[in-house]
Amino acid sequence: MTTNAQVQLRADNIDEVIKAMTLEEKAKLLVGGANNFFSDNAVVGGEADLVAGAAGTSPAIPRLGIPATVLTDGPAGVRIDPTRKGSDKTYYATAFPIGSCLASTWNTDLVNKVGQAIGNETKEYRCDVILGPGMNLHRNPLCGRNFEYYSEDPLLTGKIAAAYIQGVQSQGAGVSAKHFAINSQETDRTAVDERVSQRAARELYLRGFEIAVRESNPWTVMSSYNQINGQYSMGNRDLLTKILREDWGFKGIVMTDWIGIREGLPTITEVQAGNDLMEPGQPAQVNEIIEGVKSGKLDIADVDRNVRRMLEYIVKTPSFKKYPASNNPDFVAHAAITRQSANEGIVLLKNNGTLPWKNGNIKTVALFGENSYDFLSGGTGSGCVHPPYVVDMLEGLKNAGIKSSETLTDIYRKYIEFARVKFQAERHPAKWYQNEYFGQQKYPEIGLDPICVNKEVNGADAAIITIGRQAGEGVDRDINTEFNLNAEERALITNVCNAFHAAGKPVIVIINSGSVIETASWSGYPDAILCAWQPGMEGGNSIADLLTGKVNPSGKLTMTWPIAATDHASTKNFPGQIDDYSLQQMIGNKTPIPGHAYTNHEEDIYVGYRYFDTFGRDVAYPFGFGLSYTTFAFSKPVVKAKGKDAVEVSITVKNTGSVSGKEVAQVYVKAPKGNLEKPAQELKAFAKSRELKPGESEVLTMTIPVRMLASFDEANSQWLTEAGTYTFCIGNSSRNIAATATLKLGEYTEKTTNALAPQHKLNLLKQ
Ligand code: BGC
Repeated sequence: MTTNAQVQLRADNIDEVIKAMTLEEKAKLLVGGANNFFSDNAVVGGEADLVAGAAGTSPAIPRLGIPATVLTDGPAGVRIDPTRKGSDKTYYATAFPIGSCLASTWNTDLVNKVGQAIGNETKEYRCDVILGPGMNLHRNPLCGRNFEYYSEDPLLTGKIAAAYIQGVQSQGAGVSAKHFAINSQETDRTAVDERVSQRAARELYLRGFEIAVRESNPWTVMSSYNQINGQYSMGNRDLLTKILREDWGFKGIVMTDWIGIREGLPTITEVQAGNDLMEPGQPAQVNEIIEGVKSGKLDIADVDRNVRRMLEYIVKTPSFKKYPASNNPDFVAHAAITRQSANEGIVLLKNNGTLPWKNGNIKTVALFGENSYDFLSGGTGSGCVHPPYVVDMLEGLKNAGIKSSETLTDIYRKYIEFARVKFQAERHPAKWYQNEYFGQQKYPEIGLDPICVNKEVNGADAAIITIGRQAGEGVDRDINTEFNLNAEERALITNVCNAFHAAGKPVIVIINSGSVIETASWSGYPDAILCAWQPGMEGGNSIADLLTGKVNPSGKLTMTWPIAATDHASTKNFPGQIDDYSLQQMIGNKTPIPGHAYTNHEEDIYVGYRYFDTFGRDVAYPFGFGLSYTTFAFSKPVVKAKGKDAVEVSITVKNTGSVSGKEVAQVYVKAPKGNLEKPAQELKAFAKSRELKPGESEVLTMTIPVRMLASFDEANSQWLTEAGTYTFCIGNSSRNIAATATLKLGEYTEKTTNALAPQHKLNLLKQ
């Protein structure tokens, strides 16, 4: 070792720098620099060292020219403090559509553009890595963070994530694909043991990450808080080394989720497992590493390997390249991107012909529902963003030249002012996530007397009811109060529909929620339903574009909307809500909550449509579903072998209606009967058409690697595509197949290891 102070880090002298580092410096580099994080006043998003409100840093070692790098949440935009003490300058960031909305575009080019804009804001705000994309699977509609995630399907998750990652990283900033892995619930997330078969783990929960790693080389991956089959992800060598690096070829760094020291998991085990950066970092972890090496418990080779990976990461960052951050991103350009991506991510669930509003026939609208006036642009927790503004329904309609009832505006605005104060005054301190710093809150719906509703009919040409739902980090959703509608909301829908329909006027429901809600009991009443998700800060404009037909809806659901939440096979093993969930638990206070020590994945591979389609259960809206103002026809597909490793599917999609629009071709594959049980069908490819004029058509060509048709064969620790005749079904939802073709394939196998073996016998669902 040399202590030559002249050695300064360059992209091509990493070996030399490692040689020059002391053990203390090496240990320091592996532990995040937000050392005040666990002090009494520190909270997630508190004052980090360099950029106020950024989540964490990697530490600087100035002696060797190693700069600190800054890690910011993520994923719907840059989450930093919007204001700073002693300065008038603001640091708002564009709020882009949440993950569920982005994925619902099924448009990887568009998601790539969003990624570019987010990458740009990351670096313009002097950050190096955005802590996203969120890639956990929608195992169940009750997960509080589903809004940050993409889908119940791993292929869609992987493809959308890869597009986002490529976009961000094209700007010279990095991502952290999170939370690796099987973090599909918030309840007791820092301790829960996710007990899952190797097959469901590999085939569903890890596959999206695999696709993203192979296709987009994320700079970083974030290991999750939970355990998998009895081992914490963060200390899980099978997960972080065998699977992530050896099987998939991941070259970047792994950072932990934000927990610091955890009981029962020594930092040195995390280092050995392949965790390169401990976040947010506690000084004691540095000492643990130093002592570990000195006592011989930790091999210096493990430390050097992780240090090397850290340095390889650092030389790519804007901080290392001394990028001159402007603190001044192009909000106008980015607003256009967020508006356009929401245009394509919003899903039209029902339309009896009332939409689009043509020729200015709707001049005045009666706007009901508190979220019409306090529109939710995103979810809560670390995934919230502080945008410069949010366009609500009132403003969005106004911008489109449509007036709204002044009486209702007055009632709702006053109510929201009152509700905000009351809500904050009554908030239990343990409910940290209900602080506006962690995102917009949802206030209870005000009960409107039917007389008040009736009075609105004369002055308006149509009614809109916005049904809002908020959810986020730390808490899962409750069936009765969050998945289902409550009494006020039901009364509002019934009263408004009765009053407006009696006068022959239409009613449109806008769902302003990050996740799935119950619709089956009330969807018969309104004339149209738009699932707007939480579509970012331009939300009201994006919705107005669709209502007025300026844009034709082309979003498709990326998860099944069940009739009842209990219809999902996973619900019986999905934990209930914990009311007193506190910051202490969130940052790892150590005692598991009784009754939630583990979650059995008994539904196994039957998640989402894989369950509903295999077991023939009715749904409210199927996976892949979304209406358009035009109609499309699919030709007979051509399916042929492309070399020996892939299948090529091409199909012509034609706009057979009267307005321009885009359509998504979804390829579901049915496997032949073989030794392994298979779901009825699985999404294996998709493509979105360009905007097609009436009568126009486009050939969409998709390639499916044969290895992506494989299932995980636990008995032989291998991927296996069994020989036989495969049926390729193409349609615009999992329940609306327009054309099929078959192809015979030979057997394909790919050996892996016996990683993540379960410690407990699970009673797995079988056909
Ligand atoms: C969340 C991560 C987030 C991190 C930093 C954690 O609690 O799970 O998603 O990136 O905090 O804020």
